[in-house]
Amino acid sequence: SAKPVQVKLVLLGEAAVGKSSLVLRFVNNEFSENKEPTIGAAFLTQKCRLEDNKVIKFEIWDTAGQERFHSLAPMYYRNAQAAVVVYDVTKAASLDKAKSWVKELQRQANPNIVIALAGNKIDLVEPQDDSEVLSNIFREVPTEEARAYALEAGLLFFETSAKKGEGVVNVFTEIAKKIPVE
Ligand code: GTP
Ligand code: MG
Repeated sequence: SAKPVQVKLVLLGEAAVGKSSLVLRFVNNEFSENKEPTIGAAFLTQKCRLEDNKVIKFEIWDTAGQERFHSLAPMYYRNAQAAVVVYDVTKAASLDKAKSWVKELQRQANPNIVIALAGNKIDLVEPQDDSEVLSNIFREVPTEEARAYALEAGLLFFETSAKKGEGVVNVFTEIAKKIPVE
């Protein structure tokens, strides 16, 4: 079969929204409840085979969301062909931060960059089993509000749970389908 097409992808978003957890789910199909914050950035790779047998090799830069690392981000999104901008559906402020990352990408990154918006942690707002303790965590970002913003800004849109594995592979395969291949 054909040689894999390499795609440089960057993850951006507020601290603790689950960027590293999404990557860990996509690359190793694992989840950790106590994932430590990323320092600087982490690099991982994962291949993805599409229906037409085209193989994409993602070279993933998982950046640190803490404010003190913001100035490093251009090093990682420069030359990126794709970006996943992540927010937490239980934190409205994290969508505001995501919007500011999208603006920065649209001004400073490669003009052909494929950007996906991912609302993570949907497991926290789904109906729980009777056996689970009732939480006082509620959805702060309605799906339709985020979807409307994504449409207006020209982004792919997804909701995900890195914890349950919902929607995660889909984010990467939909991006892969959008990458122009010569
Ligand atoms: P920084 O590296 O500091 O920018 O954070 P991050 O965006 O990489 O977040 P990380 O993946 O470290 O996750 C932060 C916390 O949220 C961890 O305790 C995770 O276990 C938890 N978490 C991540 N994704 C999910 C999810 O889908 N559902 C739930 N319930 N918790 C999640
Ligand atoms: Mg991280």
